[in-house]
Amino acid sequence: MSGTLPATGGATSDVLTAWSDAEGAARARDLFTATFGAPPAGVWAAPGRVNIVGEHTDYNGGLCLPIALPHRTFVALRPRADRTARFVSAQEPGVREVELDAVAPAGAPGAVEGWPAYAAGVAWALEREGLAPAGRVPGFDLAVDSCVPYGAGLSSSAALECAVAVALDDVAGLGLSADDAGRARLAAACVRAENDIAGAPTGGMDQAASLRARAGHALLLDCRDGAVEHVPLDLAAAGLALLVMDTRAPHRLVDGQYARRRQVCEDAAAVLGVPSLREVADASMAGETTWDEVLAGLDDPEQRMRVRHVISEIERVRFLVARLTHAPGAQLRGWALDKVAWALDASHTSLREDYEVSSPELDLAADTARRLGAHGARMTGGGFGGSAIALVDADRAGAVAAGVADAFAVAGYGPPAFLLASAAAPAGPVTA
Ligand code: GLA
Repeated sequence: MSGTLPATGGATSDVLTAWSDAEGAARARDLFTATFGAPPAGVWAAPGRVNIVGEHTDYNGGLCLPIALPHRTFVALRPRADRTARFVSAQEPGVREVELDAVAPAGAPGAVEGWPAYAAGVAWALEREGLAPAGRVPGFDLAVDSCVPYGAGLSSSAALECAVAVALDDVAGLGLSADDAGRARLAAACVRAENDIAGAPTGGMDQAASLRARAGHALLLDCRDGAVEHVPLDLAAAGLALLVMDTRAPHRLVDGQYARRRQVCEDAAAVLGVPSLREVADASMAGETTWDEVLAGLDDPEQRMRVRHVISEIERVRFLVARLTHAPGAQLRGWALDKVAWALDASHTSLREDYEVSSPELDLAADTARRLGAHGARMTGGGFGGSAIALVDADRAGAVAAGVADAFAVAGYGPPAFLLASAAAPAGPVTA
């Protein structure tokens, strides 16, 4: 799973390369057969994601702009005649068994512990959402292996959910992955699995990216109505690369802090008398109000900071999409590139200062990348650890990675990991 990124001057840094479909499928299939004694019915895969801009906007009905990573989670699955689900992972010893009729919400007696909650939760949610024929999906045996780094803020949990969703879609004959409308329903089921069964109150961007993105495009997701647009993204044509810098720092307080951010935003929307902060973001974009007027309606300083981030971040998504649209492919240089850099940097500042979800490691990664010539750098994902991204000249990716690794060593942090992100394909069956 790892290789090296050559740096100018000969130094190298760890880089997490994506598995080919053949490699990922063989790993999942072999694990399945060794564990369950017979081959699977098939192998399916779903990507992790990296968000270019639009952070902590999804649960506010806002806009975000993720891409699907080439790094995927592979599941080998075979349906069973009963309602039992058995799970094995290359990342954890042992086989776990769950009765699908006994799956209970997080925190309730009988709640599924650990990673199988994400997978069993998808079966549960497909049934609760009324997507399964006669209200039931079959039991199944499942083996999983993944090259999406775990705990790196790159949506390894959504990749697992979405791989299970397309697998069950196929074996239960639901036909939902055939078009975007069906994929949106699968994504909604995956979000429900994560919220209700795994107990993580996340907002839906990750599952949409994994199921609805398109290779060679960023996904402009409108989280209010679920509409998507595919924005062409060909960084290589402009001689650019998107370097993902996984700080490998432990997530600190992430669960409680994420839920708290979401609650503060919902409280602020209630004070402002709007269904979501999207409405005030749109009103300010339309010139019907100003940021100052919006913020003047909030007495609580914490709410003012959080709202300022959310409405400015939604504007940054629109701004960046406009830049990418007006300067596609090789034209993303010069002034257009400077504007993209400005938006990425401003997003990081806003997340650090107004939303307070960055960390010293994320700040150091972004600052160092900028100092080494990145065209914008920012934390990505939920924050409190995880990864940052830097838009770099492709021939500088190794040098920037080496510089960030050096800066981490000097600061006494553990070594970061790196990967190169390109806009890859969404979840589906693996034919290799
Ligand atoms: C996590 C969540 C997403 C989103 C991001 C922040 O990745 O899973 O739903 O809220 O944080 O943008």
